[in-house]
Amino acid sequence: MKKILIPDPPVPALEVRDVTKNYGEVQALAGITLSIPRGELFGLLGPNGAGKSTLINIVTGLVRRSSGEVKVFGFDVERDYRASRSLVGAVPQELVYDHFFTVRQTLKIQSGYYGLTRNDVWMEELLERLKLKEHEHQTIRELSGGMKRRLLVAKAMVHRPAILILDEPTAGVDVALRRSLWDLVRQVHAEGTTVVLTTHYLDEAEELCERVGIIDHGVFVALDRKERLMQQIHNRRVTLDFGAKVEGLPEELARLGGTLSEDGLRATLLVDRSDGSLQRLVEALGRGNLPLMDFQVAGAGLEDVFLELTADSAKPDERRPAAEALR
Ligand SMILES: Nc1ncnc2c1ncn2[C@@H]1O[C@H](COP(=O)(O)OP(=O)(O)OP(=O)(O)O)[C@@H](O)[C@H]1O
Ligand SMILES: [Mg+2]
Repeated sequence: MKKILIPDPPVPALEVRDVTKNYGEVQALAGITLSIPRGELFGLLGPNGAGKSTLINIVTGLVRRSSGEVKVFGFDVERDYRASRSLVGAVPQELVYDHFFTVRQTLKIQSGYYGLTRNDVWMEELLERLKLKEHEHQTIRELSGGMKRRLLVAKAMVHRPAILILDEPTAGVDVALRRSLWDLVRQVHAEGTTVVLTTHYLDEAEELCERVGIIDHGVFVALDRKERLMQQIHNRRVTLDFGAKVEGLPEELARLGGTLSEDGLRATLLVDRSDGSLQRLVEALGRGNLPLMDFQVAGAGLEDVFLELTADSAKPDERRPAAEALR
């Protein structure tokens, strides 16, 4: 295989511009624009049917876009598909295997697709890294579900892709395997690989990803650095109702960002629950000698934010599993 030279920066690892996809009447993507710089660990989130896999499958060349542009390190995924495919490694959501081959044969065949005839050293390392070495001579049908997952990841990495795309790699896997896949993702990312991770588990995105995009109905409803999204998520809107008119808020409450309504009967403030402000608020209220009558905290848990952003997506019963997974 001809070695593909990756163009110098500033060409991003992945550039998606105004991409749409229709499957007959169904519009799976309604205009997606996204640029992922090289070396980023990006999280793609969204409820069932949002269009995540469609987007990923367009990038990997499994699905053709209806319109727009998709480039991997500057190579168009359709016009320059040889170059772009050699740079992408993908772990699909659907588990598809050739059951009669062994683990090692599977990796060898996959290497062959990329014209890599002398790939043994790297294959050996992959078997070790993915804890598949002791199973290398087993056929796929003899593997457990978790081992199959690991094999899919190894398969996606045989050609040392510059960008690794994982479509729900931890769906239905046990805690230990989940952790070991996280370690692997961290490791390849630390080695300079760009990673795109799709997941229904917000804690996974929180743990691993630098930037997060939430997709719904084929468009992004949020696209930001994780910390900024978390900031939004950690905020609580607190409302204090007073039984009598308050002339001014105690300084402590004002410092926490509290504002008093014109009639002096209500104060509101946004409190970051992650930095101890909530505790300070409670203490300030204890000292404040205010005619407090009612106290409300408007919830903004991870689930709330996700549901708020994807409010009228799938029917509630369809959306529920995704929301539950976000706990
Ligand atoms: N091959 C296909 N033919 C027709 N419709 C499709 C096809 N693939 C996906 N769709 C539809 O496109 C929309 C987006 O599907 P997609 O698989 O991209 O969602 P997703 O975000 O990956 O969902 P999930 O979280 O369930 O994996 C859905 O309405 C789905 O039914
Ligand atoms: Mg999917």
